Amino acid sequence: MTTNQILSEMENYAKEKRICIVLPETRQFLKDLCKSVNPKTILEVGTAIGYSASLMLLNSNATITCCEASAPNIVLAKQNFEKLGLTNRVNIVYGDCLKTLPTFEGQFDIVFLDGPKGLYPDILPLLLPKLKKGGVFVADNVSFRGMVNGKSKITEPRFEKTTKALQLFLKNLKENKNLETQIFEDLGDGIAVSKWRK
Ligand SMILES: C[S@@+](CC[C@H](N)C(=O)[O-])C[C@H]1O[C@@H](n2cnc3c(N)ncnc32)[C@H](O)[C@@H]1O
Repeated sequence: MTTNQILSEMENYAKEKRICIVLPETRQFLKDLCKSVNPKTILEVGTAIGYSASLMLLNSNATITCCEASAPNIVLAKQNFEKLGLTNRVNIVYGDCLKTLPTFEGQFDIVFLDGPKGLYPDILPLLLPKLKKGGVFVADNVSFRGMVNGKSKITEPRFEKTTKALQLFLKNLKENKNLETQIFEDLGDGIAVSKWRK
């Protein structure tokens, strides 16, 4: 099987099992980012079946640390990394990222946040110390289908908490004077991109 066939198979599996993976525009963004940053190290929070992690690895020479709380997802991600020949470039950290992030050391060239949206404000202070000077921090789903900026109505009460958390997350990012942040509301499901100010 070719790399593209394996990636398509992962996309189909995610669709069939209703596992959220990065949207096509975000995929392209991550590929371009990896090509321009040429990262040595990447940290990802929320790996699911390993799709976005694989894309970043296939478009760089980096190694990646993946934080993931679902054991079944880790089994699938490991299988996919193996199929793609990426296993020796991946370190998987199993558990709730709020507990695991403070336990490991080191800083990363790219930090990609795609974990539990409702916890983004709690995760942010744990993640920023992991971002190298000159590194890039990317957070996915910050528009939350248009609910965060009010372009779409909040249709279900359970989305209200997540929407508020994402609004707070964006506020915290924008108010952080040490960061330069750009929000791309309409790219995929919305992404925030931050770098340390020089
Ligand atoms: C949107 S999916 C990640 C998709 C993946 N980045 C991709 O595009 O291929 C979010 C993942 O975050 C994981 N997750 C949820 N809560 C978490 C937590 N507290 N710590 C670590 N991972 C968590 C879920 O199990 C799920 O696999």
